[in-house]
Order: sequence, then C-alpha cells, then structure tokens
Amino acid sequence: MNILVTGGAGFIGANHVRWLLGRTEDRVINLDLLTYAGNLENLAGFEDNPRYRFVHGDIGDAALVARVLAEERIEAVINFAAESHVDRSLDAPRLFIETNVLGTQTLLAAASAARVARFLQVSTDEVYGSLGATGTFAEESPLAPNSPYAASKAAADLVCRAYGHTFGLPVLITRCSNNYGPFQFPEKLIPLMIANALEGKPLPVYGDGLHVRDWLFVEDHCTAIDAVLRRGRPGQTYNIGGGNEWPNIEIVRLLLRLLDRPESLITFVPDRPGHDRRYAIDAAKIRRELGWAPAHDFAQGVSATVDWYRDNRSWWERIRSGAYRAYYERMYGAGGRYGGR
Ligand code: NAD
Ligand code: TYD
Repeated sequence: MNILVTGGAGFIGANHVRWLLGRTEDRVINLDLLTYAGNLENLAGFEDNPRYRFVHGDIGDAALVARVLAEERIEAVINFAAESHVDRSLDAPRLFIETNVLGTQTLLAAASAARVARFLQVSTDEVYGSLGATGTFAEESPLAPNSPYAASKAAADLVCRAYGHTFGLPVLITRCSNNYGPFQFPEKLIPLMIANALEGKPLPVYGDGLHVRDWLFVEDHCTAIDAVLRRGRPGQTYNIGGGNEWPNIEIVRLLLRLLDRPESLITFVPDRPGHDRRYAIDAAKIRRELGWAPAHDFAQGVSATVDWYRDNRSWWERIRSGAYRAYYERMYGAGGRYGGR
C-alpha cells in the first residue's frame, strides 16, 4: 500500500514511520513542515530506503498535497501533523486552529478529490474534556474540550466526520491517551522530567501534582493505528489506551528513582490554566473489534524510555540548546507562567 504519513518527523509520526518500514511492505511518504517539533534526526538511517520518501511541506498547502497524492498514487493517509502541546496552545491558540483544523480540512479535501481508500485522523482523548475521580471516556462520551489544543483536535474530528458523511471519504478516527517513549520532544512531562533530572535541574510539577493521565508506550499506539487503518470500519472512532492511570507526582517520583536522583529536585509551580484533572480511556471497542492489546507494561516501557534518553543525550541536548531554550525561559523562567515563585 502507498501510505501518506503527515507529521512523520515528530514523536509519534517518526515512531510510526519506523514501525511501518520495519514491519510492513508498504511505501511511506512523509509530509512534514519541520516545525520546532519536527526533527529529521528521528528518521536518520532511513533516507536511502527505497520504500521511503520525505516531502518538506505543509498539510495546509492544497496544491502540494494534491500533487503528492497523485504522484505517489496514495491509497491511505494517516494524519499525525499537528501542533500538539497544551501549554503552547495557551500562548498561540490561532496557530492550533490553523494547523489542526484548517490543515486537516485541506488534507481531507485533497484526499476526497483523490479518492483515497482510507483516511485515518490521529486524535486524542483530550477532546472529551476532564473526568472526576471515577469513570472513563468511551467513544460516545460527549466532546467537551477545555484547552485550545483540545478544541482544535475536537473541531478537526468533526470536520473528518463531515467529509465521511457528506463526501463518502472512508474516514477513521483514533483517540489515544498520553504517549511516552523514544523521540518525544522534551517539552512533554516524561522527557522533560528525565532531561531535567539528568541535568540536575528542578522538576516543575504543576499545581498539586495529583492530575491523572493514562499512559501508553508509543509503539502500542502504532500497532493500534495500524490495526484501525487496515481493519477498522470507516466512519468509526476507536479509543486507544492502556488502562494505566498515574498521578503526575507519582510518575515524577518513579523517574527520579530510576535515575537515582533526589526528590529534592521536585518543585511545585503554579497550576496550568484550565488544567484537566483526569483522563482515562475505555478501550474495549478496539480490543473487541480488532483484537488489539498493548504489548508493553508501564514498568518495562518507562525503564526503556529512561535508558533511551540516557543513551541519546546528544539528541535532546541539541534540541534544548536551540530555539527551545527561549520557550523554556518563557514558561519556566523568572516571571514566566510556571516560574512566578
Ligand atoms: P509532535 O509535536 O511531536 O509532532 C508533530 C509533527 O507535525 C512535527 O513533526 C511537525 O513538524 C509536524 N507539523 C506541524 N504542523 C505541520 C503542518 N502544518 N504540516 C505538516 N507537518 C506539520 O506531536 P506528537 O506528540 O507526535 O503527536 C502526533 C499526533 O498525535 C498529533 O495529531 C497529536 O494531536 C496526536 N496525539 C498525541 C498524543 C501524545 O501523547 N503525544 C496523544 C494522543 C494523540
Ligand atoms: P503533558 O505532557 O503536557 O501532556 P497533556 O497536558 O497533553 O496531558 O502533561 C502531562 C501532565 O503533566 C499534565 O497533567 C501536566 C503535567 N505537567 C507538569 O506537571 N509539569 C510540566 O512541566 C509539564 C510539561 C506537564
């Protein structure tokens, strides 16, 4: 199959491109704008693979997308491309609407015109909003996004639905919980804490640290996406999650233990505005219909991730020495959102 992967230079996209090239016979075209989060080092070694091609560009560029779909006779699209970080969406909501909503609509229109056989939208559990102490999100749960990031992803899901319903595009939507693993940009909780701990810097925990996320190893997300792409029913949405809930503070303590660093590095900082208290996914549908199950338990996945960041220090040091430093200062420096005290 000829697959267009968008956002393939980012965290999950790069893991997915690597997975597809390693485990299938498919041809993979990676369309990525290379924003701050896109890094071709994540795909080093694959440049000469005859089944792989990188195209530098924007999912919002209609002419480029139409050309790539035709030129490569694309049969399936997997849309990972997005602005993905909640804290950045508080600063620049418009960029999130442009990329995540308008970009997705441009891609949908082109895919519909090219009559691709499958369009998989990689969405998130954050579209469902926040849970209290109990309960889980099912596919039928109401959409109640709270951050500009979550709102832009929910809007994109609805545009996908419309292209399926009205134009007959075979659209599939996946909504996954928080991912962790190799190549995750060190602005997200787990890689940020690992990198800070390795550098002996404070570990900024938002609010009381009792916010709960449901963590899934990135490769388990890739196998779920692949199952939905090949065997999912068009028009359907599939939740993906590991049934692996952790309060943030417990994750941070676990990482410090694995890295043999002191808990005194933990610093409680002001809470994130609008911070969702708890996410938890009911993944019964994908388990039942497609037989998918995660293959990694958390202890194993986190320890492999810690090892990866320890062994690939130059990867994240290069990122942290560049433009990311200005963002980090803006968020966590004196006078920044999380640096006020
Ligand atoms: P990421 O920020 O690491 O990567 C995003 C990639 O998209 C980058 O390579 C970037 O260059 C590219 N991109 C951004 N704008 C683009 C544009 N206009 N055109 C083409 N490429 C563009 O994100 P990630 O964590 O890998 O997330 C990938 C997808 O999975 C996103 O859609 C996100 O909403 C979704 N998701 C992420 C998680 C998670 O825990 N990280 C969980 C559920 C769903
Ligand atoms: P994050 O990785 O940004 O993912 P999301 O907000 O999309 O779930 O954050 C995961 C959790 O960790 C979330 O509750 C916010 C919290 N967090 C911190 O406490 N400190 C930090 O520096 C970051 C980046 C996140």
